[in-house]
Amino acid sequence: MIKTPRGTKDILPSEIHKWQYLEQAIKKVTNLFSYQELRTPIFEHLEVFSRSIGEQTDIVNKEMYVFEKMTNADSNKKQELFALRPEMTAALVRSAIEHNLSAQGQIQRLWYYGPFFRYERPQAGRYRQFHQFGAECLATPSPTADIEVINLAIRLIQELGINKYELLINSLGNKESRANYRKTLQSYLMDNIDNLSVTSKERADKNPLRVLDSKDKEDQEIIANAPKIKGSLDQESQDHISNVLETLDSLGVNYTVDEKLVRGLDYYSHTVFELRSTELGSQDSFGGGGRYNELFSQLGGKDVPAVGFAMGIERLIMILEKLDKFKQDDSYKGIYLVNACKEKPALIEKTLQKLRNKGLQATSDVLDRSLKAQFKDSGKRMSKWTIVIGDDELATEQYQIKNMESGEQIKVSFAELDSFEF
Ligand code: HAM
Repeated sequence: MIKTPRGTKDILPSEIHKWQYLEQAIKKVTNLFSYQELRTPIFEHLEVFSRSIGEQTDIVNKEMYVFEKMTNADSNKKQELFALRPEMTAALVRSAIEHNLSAQGQIQRLWYYGPFFRYERPQAGRYRQFHQFGAECLATPSPTADIEVINLAIRLIQELGINKYELLINSLGNKESRANYRKTLQSYLMDNIDNLSVTSKERADKNPLRVLDSKDKEDQEIIANAPKIKGSLDQESQDHISNVLETLDSLGVNYTVDEKLVRGLDYYSHTVFELRSTELGSQDSFGGGGRYNELFSQLGGKDVPAVGFAMGIERLIMILEKLDKFKQDDSYKGIYLVNACKEKPALIEKTLQKLRNKGLQATSDVLDRSLKAQFKDSGKRMSKWTIVIGDDELATEQYQIKNMESGEQIKVSFAELDSFEF
């Protein structure tokens, strides 16, 4: 038997209601905040991601699905490298630059939803194909936009009925502050290099901020005593994060400042944040984001400051399952047409069409089963109505309609079906 590749899964009809519930909530909330949907291809030129997420990050280093194709550019055959998208922010910025979406500093409020791909070690809540919902506010450096996207995320969480979660927040400062901190931190890590784990030893050299992310026991004491980023923030960076935190305070939003929060992607500046839930196991982060003021120029565009976040749909579903938020829909619905006159399939089809034209859900047997089996099928499907067409009904030009909830039976003429109130 051929199975789905490791780390991927089918979403079966029995669980699709969970996804649709989330998708509806996402549409509702993005509409409330006046965000518009953007859809981009699921693969991009490799450099979209390698130039933005950072050569030294796990995603670019070892998690991307990269493939090669010969392309016929300007009639010269050349080898091109593509990647399945591991995240959306870089792809969205590529699209915004290509279509000049943020011309003359025009603010763009965008959201997206779809599959993403990372070659990670699969475990509960971690897949190789997973889904994200995200929102990005382009072309404003204002802390008000940081608040807007955090508020959008919280609104969705509330809409879904998740009351218990943690919002962690930190500032990585502007480019200069970050460069200063990188130097300070690196020199501290080099002084302690012998006591760091193997992975952190490597990171200390190439991407020192990521050492703060280490879960390795060996690293914890060194991380705890490491110089804090706060000490390296210049006035502009301090003002930005203070403004964000003060506004969150006045809105009554609970958060924890976590000075170790650096996130696994290199494009961030100023505010970074993460949403965590105790309902999840070790993969407890169900959303994350932040500001990325330098990403547009990294990808060849003009300077366009922006901020956004993304949430993992599989992890949101796991939380909602734990909270028992998915009730089985056990309501009666739809109409089942029982075909008791096998030689008249056109009449069945015409009747189904009539019902569907009225906006009603209607189905019938396609197996030429017995009357009894068709009634049983109708019951199993929780149909609200069963309509029988047999030889008697044909002769009298009347349908026999049964209300499956009450058991009541009514006769309705072919002509009256149009006006019958189901
Ligand atoms: P990220 O933290 O890499 O950020 O991913 C966001 C969310 O996607 C995570 O919190 C998690 O819920 C989900 N996720 C990530 N990887 C997996 C996986 N292998 N399996 C299941 N779920 C996963 C970003 O992707 C940024 N683009 C977020 C952003 C938007 N920053 C600014 N704007």
